[in-house]
Amino acid sequence: MHVLVLGSGGREHGLCRALAESKGENRVSCGPGNAGTAKIGTNIDLNPGEHDRLLEVCKEEGVDLVVVGPEDPLVAGIADVLREAGIPVLGPGGQAAQLEGSKIFAKQFCDRHSIQTAAFKIFDDADKAHKYIDKRSEEECIVKADGLAAGKGVIVCDDKFDAHAGVDTCFVDRKFGSAGDRIIIEERLAGFETTLLTLVSGSQYMKFPYSQDHKRAYDGDKGPNTGGMGVFAPTPKVTAELDEWITMNIVEPTIEGLVDDGIDYIGCLYFGLMVTEEGPAVLEFNVRFGDPETQAILPLMEGNFLEAVDGCANGNLENVKLTQSKKKALTVILASKGYPGKYSKGIDITEDIRALEENKNVIVVHAGTRQSDGKILTSGGRVVAVTALGSDFSECREIVYSAIDERELKDLFYRKDIGHELVPA
Ligand code: AMP
Ligand code: GLY
Repeated sequence: MHVLVLGSGGREHGLCRALAESKGENRVSCGPGNAGTAKIGTNIDLNPGEHDRLLEVCKEEGVDLVVVGPEDPLVAGIADVLREAGIPVLGPGGQAAQLEGSKIFAKQFCDRHSIQTAAFKIFDDADKAHKYIDKRSEEECIVKADGLAAGKGVIVCDDKFDAHAGVDTCFVDRKFGSAGDRIIIEERLAGFETTLLTLVSGSQYMKFPYSQDHKRAYDGDKGPNTGGMGVFAPTPKVTAELDEWITMNIVEPTIEGLVDDGIDYIGCLYFGLMVTEEGPAVLEFNVRFGDPETQAILPLMEGNFLEAVDGCANGNLENVKLTQSKKKALTVILASKGYPGKYSKGIDITEDIRALEENKNVIVVHAGTRQSDGKILTSGGRVVAVTALGSDFSECREIVYSAIDERELKDLFYRKDIGHELVPA
């Protein structure tokens, strides 16, 4: 089987790895891919936004299955285009992708199907939003641009001053363009966050282990929000009892809600959850695998991942046997200095990456890298993910940080406290 993964980040390299390791006579390509995916199979020079060219490539290269990595092409309807052409695809159609493409759509979906989420109000006008903030009794809130904003459309506000500024960021400064034409002002929830990835095929679904992403740039959860600087899984904070509650009150109502709404969801569905004192609530849905969650979770899965993906894409998830190993996984992201602000690209990191890749105790997944004349150059903010598996999180931390600390890494930075709280003092 020839599988084509669309995208160029760490998630896509992680997916390519797991697909290539699945037993069987398979070929894995990535478009456009990065320096890591190039070592697994062929990188195909394509832009997931160019639908006609994608269809041409699929035909020429005999692609049997497409796995869509990022959200933008899904929201733009790439999965519909592929399905109409008879090509099986892991990824929801444009309507279903609104769960991520429109925060208002997602909130209204939760309301309609009685799925717990933070209380919210919708605005399309700055004046009304400012007046609402003035009248609110709570100081803290969250301002969210409705549309896709490259993960930057959520403004966490500590007080009303921040909230007013957040409203202006969307409506006056137009920082998020048309994605900020409508906004949500939402109750700010307190608790701990966890990610649940699932594969969904209509009314069938399977759950991956719960994980915990670290979104802030610096140790101690300080600094600006990023795409994710590290992750561990399975998180011990989600007990069997909590999992049961989430399954019955969030996952199943979501799957049933999609079916009731006439949406045939096929793909990975990401539940971003906040576990509050009143119980878990949905913070967001993503219609794709998480990054870096994928890099930690896939190495924990035993069984044939390609069969699972193919089963999901073809409405046959029930017979898929993918089980969770007893191991733990911990991933640390090495990022370009300056990320998530301004940073340089094109820095030669060949020696550092080669040294890490030679260390067989860790899994090195490329994100913002590209190959040029046999060298590995940086091409993005998050550069590589380094993952270790172990029998407990102390072992994972020991393995991952000793591998990273062997190098001076003068051009990259990373958080030193991923999974820190899980290690006995
Ligand atoms: P999102 O893109 O919706 O996941 O939001 C990004 C981050 O903002 C989340 O991971 C949370 O840390 C935070 N966040 C979003 N919504 C809320 C909320 N209602 N209460 C508290 N934190 C939130
Ligand atoms: N790690 C967060 C995300 O994939 O959206």
